[in-house]
Amino acid sequence: FFKQKTAYEISTRDWSSDVCSSDLEKHAEKLIVALDLDSAPEARSVVSELKGTVGAFKVGLQLFTGGGRELVRDLVESGVRVFLDLKFHDIPNTVASAAVEAARLGVWMFNVHAFGGGEMMRRTSDSVREFCSSSSTQAPIMLAVTVLTSWDQENIREIGVTENLSEQILRLARLTKDSGFDGVVASAHEVSSIRGAVGDGFTVLTPGIRPSFATKDDQKRVMTPAEAVRAGSDYIVVGRPVLNAPDRARAVEAILGELAGI
Ligand code: C5P
Repeated sequence: FFKQKTAYEISTRDWSSDVCSSDLEKHAEKLIVALDLDSAPEARSVVSELKGTVGAFKVGLQLFTGGGRELVRDLVESGVRVFLDLKFHDIPNTVASAAVEAARLGVWMFNVHAFGGGEMMRRTSDSVREFCSSSSTQAPIMLAVTVLTSWDQENIREIGVTENLSEQILRLARLTKDSGFDGVVASAHEVSSIRGAVGDGFTVLTPGIRPSFATKDDQKRVMTPAEAVRAGSDYIVVGRPVLNAPDRARAVEAILGELAGI
């Protein structure tokens, strides 16, 4: 995936002498660009601009609904890692079956809502692993969203959850791990308490990242890429700071530059 010389390496002569290429690859692998776009042609053009310089691309509800599975299949076939961010939440049989279809598509990572419960997650991880083992393919990384970062105490109280929000997040992280999932999606502010609760060897992916050059947009509790990785994030998701940049490749370079300074 990273074999060809990346645009980053070509265009950042000042850093490439200090940072060895395996370091660059290590940092680039952590960076997932959110393709929050409404059409497949737009998404294809962003991918061709950035392919080889970032670890993966995230296809969420908007693009999947607008661009469909053909786009995901094409990206996968062209060697691009896809994080299918559809946050499945339904009865165990439906989510397990949808997840098997995601695995059949060859996505590198997908997610569900931990609020779907332990049985839903167990059925899903068992079905996906069984499918991948019988088809001799690598199982995707399976993540669960604990509590959406757009939620606060009042939002969970409204649906009848009286537990403290941070306790609720940790409870769902433990449930996710016990259900055979690989990790969670969480705010960078929660990474260290999640690590404390479930230990290492559990993937934590964090959105809500703002490089120092970017504005916050509508994200409230943001961290820079370096802060998030220092706090223990395995992967960071960045959308608008890259998508809306006048020069997207340079925006990626700047993020990798921040990570190289860790
Ligand atoms: O543009 P921005 O960098 O804010 O995009 C963040 C991406 O991460 C979006 O695709 C958004 O849906 C997703 N996300 C988030 N907060 C969460 C979960 C996912 O911002 N808690």
